[in-house]
Amino acid sequence: MKGVILAGGLGTRLYPLTFATNKHLLPVYDKPMIYYPIQTLVKAGIKEILVVVSGPHSGHYIHVLKNGKEFGINHLEFAYQEKPDGGIADALLLAEDFSDGKPIVAILGDNTTDADISKEAKDFKNGALVFLKKVVDAKRFGVPRFDRDKQTIIEILEKPKEPPSDYAVTGLYMYDKNVFDYVRRCKSSWRGELEITEVNNFYIKAKKLRWAELKGYWLDAGTFDTLLLGNLYWAKKNNPGRLKMLMKELGLL
Ligand code: TTP
Repeated sequence: MKGVILAGGLGTRLYPLTFATNKHLLPVYDKPMIYYPIQTLVKAGIKEILVVVSGPHSGHYIHVLKNGKEFGINHLEFAYQEKPDGGIADALLLAEDFSDGKPIVAILGDNTTDADISKEAKDFKNGALVFLKKVVDAKRFGVPRFDRDKQTIIEILEKPKEPPSDYAVTGLYMYDKNVFDYVRRCKSSWRGELEITEVNNFYIKAKKLRWAELKGYWLDAGTFDTLLLGNLYWAKKNNPGRLKMLMKELGLL
């Protein structure tokens, strides 16, 4: 399978940080944020990667990712999304040529996880697969409504006021080649974006959407709070003794 990292958008919730560079190049502990989705893909054996970029800092990526060799990527491509905030589905459309009619794994550039998706990538044949995670604040995400069997997703609601379950649809997806036709059928939402939730709902209507639970830590680092949490999580995971020592020094422990 080939991989697509959606790393466009304006990152407005992180202004003024994102006046200077793109959100996905901001630090998460000792690495730029985009290193994490790259690691997730490479760990799953996905070494042909397209990075979709947009906005005023698009040129910054090349300095950081270069030709991708140091991450174990065999083939790295970039695509430029004309409308910087056209939406996740709009960004995905740029992967059509790259995918060459084969299935793709798409991951949002601000999603960091230590989950292993190798099995799902190896087994994926057709339709779509979304990864779900139990969360305490489902209102902030796309939320699935399950059938009575609690297994089949019958609808996904975008940021619902009253979430029908306590699961979030994370920013990791697997799609077959039909995804691009579904994106073309999407209508611009109230916020002027082509929404990935609408694409997923097309798959549900076609009875082609499956889901798996994302095992392990997962966070989207798009706000000040979650960016801080992401930094703390990876600092603790990669260097537990040091974080404790620093917190003590600061009087936070
Ligand atoms: P969002 O967090 O919804 O949008 P954003 O990154 O522009 O941030 P903000 O809401 O603070 O303005 O996007 C989630 C991910 O999707 C993000 O990591 C990048 C990707 N994305 C694109 O590639 N293109 C887009 O047009 C949008 C909106 C997002």
